[in-house]
This record gives sequence, C-alpha cells and structure tokens, in this order.
Amino acid sequence: MQSGMSPLHPKRQLVIAVDGPAGAGKSTVARRVADRLGLEYLDTGAMYRALALKALRRGVDLRDEEQLAELLATSDIAVASRAGGAVRVFLDGEDVSDAIRAPEVNAAVSQVAGFAKVRAGMVTRQRALARAGGVVVDGRDIGTEVLPDADVKFFLTASLKARARRRWEELRAQGFSIELDAVEEEIAHRDRLDAGRAVGPLRRAPDAILIDTTDVAVDAVVEELLRFCRLRVCE
Ligand code: DC
Repeated sequence: MQSGMSPLHPKRQLVIAVDGPAGAGKSTVARRVADRLGLEYLDTGAMYRALALKALRRGVDLRDEEQLAELLATSDIAVASRAGGAVRVFLDGEDVSDAIRAPEVNAAVSQVAGFAKVRAGMVTRQRALARAGGVVVDGRDIGTEVLPDADVKFFLTASLKARARRRWEELRAQGFSIELDAVEEEIAHRDRLDAGRAVGPLRRAPDAILIDTTDVAVDAVVEELLRFCRLRVCE
C-alpha cells in the first residue's frame, strides 16, 4: 500500500480508524473520507470475507480453527483502493471483489472471524499494511486492537432497521434476490457474533467519536468526520 500525505497537514501521515456494526455505512463513509484527504483506504472486512470465501470453496470445516488459520497463512489476500473507484479484492491473484459480497459469505464470515488464530494472522497483516500511515482503516476492532494509537477514531452506528435496509438495497443492486426480513435477521445474528466473541469483539474504543448515521445522509456523515479530523490535526 502506498502512503499518502494528508493535505490537512503535509508532515503527518494520518491514521484514521472507523469501526462499527454491519450496515452502519462505514465502508462508504471511510472510502469517501480517504478520497477527500488523499489517503489510502483499507477495508479489513474484505480480508475476512476473502478468507471465508476460500474456506467455503475448499469445503474447509468452518468450526476448525487450525485449518482456517493454516488456510490464511497460505493465502495471498490483497486489497486495493483507487481514489474515487471501488475497492478491489484479490485472493491468490483472482479478483473476488463481487464474490466476497455473496449471501453465503455473509453467513459464514463472522464464524471465520471469531477464531483467535485467524484474528492474530489478520491483525498482523493489517498492521503491516497501515504501518506507513496515510490511511483510513475500516473494521470492528481497529481502534481497540489493530491500531490503538490511531490519530482519529470513529465508531459509526445506526438502528438495526436502517442498517438492514442499506444492506438489502446493496444486495439487490448487485442482483441478489433476498427478503428484507432475512437480511435483518442475518445482520442481528452477525452483530451478536461480532460483539460477543472473546477476541477482537466489536467494541467502541473509549476515545472513539460516536456517530449515529440512522437518519443522516452519507454526505453529511462524511462532512462530520472531516470536521473532527481537521480539529484533531490542528490540536
Ligand atoms: O464490514 P464487513 O461486513 O465487510 O465485515 C465482514 C465480517 O468480518 C463481519 O461479520 C465481521 C468481520 N470483521 C471483523 O471481525 N473484524 C474486522 N476488523 C473487520 C471485519
């Protein structure tokens, strides 16, 4: 990953953490904040999704921590963000950007992400990718575990209904036919798994700025984050 100089402060390689539950708008908002500040964007959820996809394809038992950790150790997962463009995700050189958003992956990923050995491998990779700074990183445990020293931390949230509707609209736009109720149930289930696990649970860091996006348009959320970033670098 290339490092970017923040136009807000030419000498500083800003590191911005954006955490929150599924459907809170993290990826859209984090990507747009990165574009506006001339930073890279790292979608850590896409990395867990790529591993879940590979496990499903290989028929690996999703309850087998050792096998999943071994699978990760032997996998090449690359996440590329282009300014203004969509994030592309490559698994062992194959572009899996669309495949990792499929409902089967949604259903499997929290289980895969629940294992300590899988998380340890992912956290090491994520820290290495963010080491140079100049990056907006989105996930569940970025402000708490992966990058506790991030310059600015956000925790985005929204009501379950609003989050389910956003995910449902995204899935429909991608051509998946699925009921809104099913998406809501699936998100509630993932919330429980993500928040309840022993390692790297979804949790707001004490110093993270809480932003509720339920009734707020994306543009306004982006501006709000940028405002806090400016305040932080001017401190
Ligand atoms: O943000 P997303 O929906 O693409 O994330 C997919 C899954 O990966 C989600 O269920 C939780 C998990 N995840 C995680 O455990 N830690 C992260 N840093 C990012 C995602």
